[in-house]
Amino acid sequence: MSLSLENLTCNCDHGSTDEEKYALIGQMIDAYKDKEGSLIQVLHAAQEIYGYLPLELQKFIALRMNKPLSEVNGVVSFYSFFSTKERGEHTIHVCMGTACYVRGAQKLVEALEDKLGVAVGEVTPDKKFTLDVARCIGACGLAPAVMVDNDVHRQVQPSGIDAMLKQY
Ligand code: FES
Repeated sequence: MSLSLENLTCNCDHGSTDEEKYALIGQMIDAYKDKEGSLIQVLHAAQEIYGYLPLELQKFIALRMNKPLSEVNGVVSFYSFFSTKERGEHTIHVCMGTACYVRGAQKLVEALEDKLGVAVGEVTPDKKFTLDVARCIGACGLAPAVMVDNDVHRQVQPSGIDAMLKQY
């Protein structure tokens, strides 16, 4: 496989062991490290390959790119699309904006926590879902709203959670 960011949108698992993933990230760094803005590109690629950016991986990237860890960590912390925690295959964002909140978003969160057996911010044991909350996601007229990956589910009730999750 040739190394490019485009290739990283494929559905292969980019190697199944940590060793293979680190090796692939290392090759990606070697291919990109002298290009301008390469750190962000490398971090994107690394997150795509590894799933998230734990401190150990940030250290590896910093060392291999001859950059201070503080610089790598600063970029990871600054951009919300980088995650330092393991993510599930799908991310559920329950909207906690005002309209959703007054129409029962908190009950939805509790129902999802019960159903999935995790708290907000955690990944289910089967790594299928990450449960999270969000600010207004722009569907206030049909609150309460839940976003799963890029899909917006409107007027979700605790009784509708099973049907919603089944789609994933
Ligand atoms: S407050 Fe939830 S969609 Fe706007």
